[in-house]
Amino acid sequence: MPFDRVFLDELAARNDIVDIVSQYVQLKKSGANYFGLCPFHNEKTASFSVAPDKQIFHCFGCGAGGSVITFVMKAEGLEFPDAVRFLAGKAGMEVPTQGEADRQAARRRDRLYALCKDAARFFYDTLWQPENRAVQQYFFNRGLHRRTMNRFGLGYAPDNFSALLDAMKAKGYTREEMLDAGLLSKSEKGRVYDRFRGRVMFPIIDVRGNVIAFGGRVMDDSKPKYLNSPETPIFHKSRNLFALNLAKTTRNGYFILAEGYMDVIALHQAGFDSAVASLGTSLTEDQARMMARHTSEIVISYDADGAGQAAAQRAIDILGRCDLQVKVLKIPGAKDPDEFLREKGPDAFRNLIERSENHNAYRLEQIASKYDLEDDEARVLFLKDAARMLAGIDSGVEREVYASKAARMAGVTPEAMLVEVKRELGIRLKKRKTAERREIRSPVGMAQPKDRSLTYPDIKSAKAEEGVLRLIFSDQKLVAGLKKDLPAAWFSAPVLRKIYERALELDAEGHMVDVVAFEGYLEPGEMSHLTRVLNEGVPAAEQQKALLEYINTIRLQRVKDGTTAEQGEDPLLTFGRMKKQNAGGQTI
Ligand code: CTP
Ligand code: MN
Repeated sequence: MPFDRVFLDELAARNDIVDIVSQYVQLKKSGANYFGLCPFHNEKTASFSVAPDKQIFHCFGCGAGGSVITFVMKAEGLEFPDAVRFLAGKAGMEVPTQGEADRQAARRRDRLYALCKDAARFFYDTLWQPENRAVQQYFFNRGLHRRTMNRFGLGYAPDNFSALLDAMKAKGYTREEMLDAGLLSKSEKGRVYDRFRGRVMFPIIDVRGNVIAFGGRVMDDSKPKYLNSPETPIFHKSRNLFALNLAKTTRNGYFILAEGYMDVIALHQAGFDSAVASLGTSLTEDQARMMARHTSEIVISYDADGAGQAAAQRAIDILGRCDLQVKVLKIPGAKDPDEFLREKGPDAFRNLIERSENHNAYRLEQIASKYDLEDDEARVLFLKDAARMLAGIDSGVEREVYASKAARMAGVTPEAMLVEVKRELGIRLKKRKTAERREIRSPVGMAQPKDRSLTYPDIKSAKAEEGVLRLIFSDQKLVAGLKKDLPAAWFSAPVLRKIYERALELDAEGHMVDVVAFEGYLEPGEMSHLTRVLNEGVPAAEQQKALLEYINTIRLQRVKDGTTAEQGEDPLLTFGRMKKQNAGGQTI
């Protein structure tokens, strides 16, 4: 966390969450809290709440939640530090300079940015040397214009073990810095040499315009075809998208997501200036979120081969989770967008986009491809398989549209298809009802976290763990002695343990235990889980007693699962004794 805690507390104190949220959402008071329409998802009934006492917001519809800082991050599309600056500006506060360690790290990173920029310049200059005509020709043969090449800063790394090393040394950079930037490799004997040799070079540029890494391609069929920079202090592959620095200013209403460097460059040259690539890895959630800041629709344009199509399936899910509309392009008669553009031209590609299918249609086709639709038995299986997928579509109208499509594919009437879909919907409804009933009947009466990755392994224990957190967030005095009485290792739910450990730490360091202190420390899903937990409210009286009961419940669960035994005691004895102890109070 780059900001001082005391400063963040002050910042939060001076930016009341109700005031800030009111600038975006019309709030109505109801009881102690405020309610309004959630600005982060579409809704007609107000499920967005703001709790002034805890200074948090939470949406019961989409699960978003956090402090005033998270709110500004989401509402203004800002990263954490920029949201902090935004709020500091509103409150007329000065952002304090960072600590010495942070300053040093920042200086080191600045050196690496400068080095990568100089390296890019070196590769660029080398490419345009007269002796490298053949390299220039390589790009021309691939259909690139000089203007495009300059726009992307393309270059060439000479086939030499120390060309870059020497050039950068002459500019005052150290070997350490070049190693840190991923520009050098080290042999087993410790000798360092240029990492990129005899390759055409594609600079990778971050969203703010800094060169942060490179991809280098051989000019023949040797392997590996592409060599990329490793992870460095300034380059995190999973958190960057190739060409996002250009695509972010597009006026297209959609982004095109491709696989490779050359696809993106060819797309931009053909006028599709909203193309980006995930740098050969499968798309990450960070990358999806980055796109979601600039657009609401993605056209996936991956390679036509099996690997590309499988990657598209995974990308659909990830993009959907970020509320992005997704279409999937099929590229007929070419292996990738680059090849398609060269053979058929921009107009044909624009046509593909216009005809590109909604991901539901795409999914349907993927299912159909598993069956031989000429065969009666296979057709029945296809219908059942398709019905399962169709039952998952929320909108009734859309469901009917694709049900008709599936019917056409299988050569049956739409009515027959709809009967199957209705059956599937019935099964789903029944499953949901059973689950709800079970939830209500369950002694602990609580749901698992919305975010599946946070699933509680022991609900009974987790319910008590939640109670502990609610209590210490409402009254920090209760933290006293907890470190000894309730070791963090006894927490069964990883997310709750993470929060608990941090709370103990904050308290020990003399800081306030509030949601702001968890900004930048919890992942967004964890944060919204915390706000949901805190929203439940605490017992009004006898909090100390409630806390002891929670601790006992947790300890009992840990004795049961063998995590702990009272010192020197047989676990069964402990269990029996504690049960008796607990019998006085209610079991939680
Ligand atoms: N890639 C990589 N390392 C490899 C192969 C591929 O990093 N050994 C990444 C690159 O970002 C590449 C993308 O995966 O652009 C797609 O790979 P591929 O389809 O094989 O390459 P193309 O982009 O089609 O490259 P080209 O047209 O230059 O052959
Ligand atoms: Mn290609």
